[in-house]
Amino acid sequence: MSSIRSNNPHNDIEEVLIDDAAIQARVRDLGAEIASAYGGEEPLVLVSVLKGSLIFVADLMRAIPINVVIDLMEVSSYGGGNTESSGTVRILKDLSGTIEGRDVVIVEDIIDTGLTLNYLMGYLSGKSPRSIRIVTLLNKPARRLVDLKVDWIGFEIPDKFVVGYGLDFRETYRNLRYVGVLKRELYASALGES
Ligand code: IMP
Repeated sequence: MSSIRSNNPHNDIEEVLIDDAAIQARVRDLGAEIASAYGGEEPLVLVSVLKGSLIFVADLMRAIPINVVIDLMEVSSYGGGNTESSGTVRILKDLSGTIEGRDVVIVEDIIDTGLTLNYLMGYLSGKSPRSIRIVTLLNKPARRLVDLKVDWIGFEIPDKFVVGYGLDFRETYRNLRYVGVLKRELYASALGES
């Protein structure tokens, strides 16, 4: 293990980008906005894209004052723990229930190139939902490679690698209550820098 690593995740953060209070306030607003878009009788289906949206969906579903059910998908878009999207999306865990005829909201942690969600939209649309929309906590528009309609965005962020509130680097930092920029020296090797 490198000597710059410690067991305290806060020490690895360059800058707090969005603090706990700002996240909670925005999630409450998003919950109200999403609820007001639906009037159907069937519960809304939230499809959480694991593992990054785990914390977000837990808070968001409690901020939505109408009936919801959740289903979980796990996908992997980065090869081997890197910080760059490979464009190849693998489904590690598929939906447990049916979404045919249902109103669906895909819940994402962050949209970067858009390749992951573009693939998921195609995949889930093929299962004949009544409607399908997207909510993401974070949006990094600078790196978008595909045109994607995103219905609700928590925060627009600059082109920096961020962790916390569910987002990871090599599976760590998900438990931070805030979204922070990871110190560059910690992920430089993953970018091929020395
Ligand atoms: P996309 O396919 O490039 O849009 O990548 C989406 C996925 O990449 C997200 O669900 C995250 O898992 C991951 N990702 C993209 N940017 C970041 C970041 O800054 N920090 C952590 N994970 C990220």
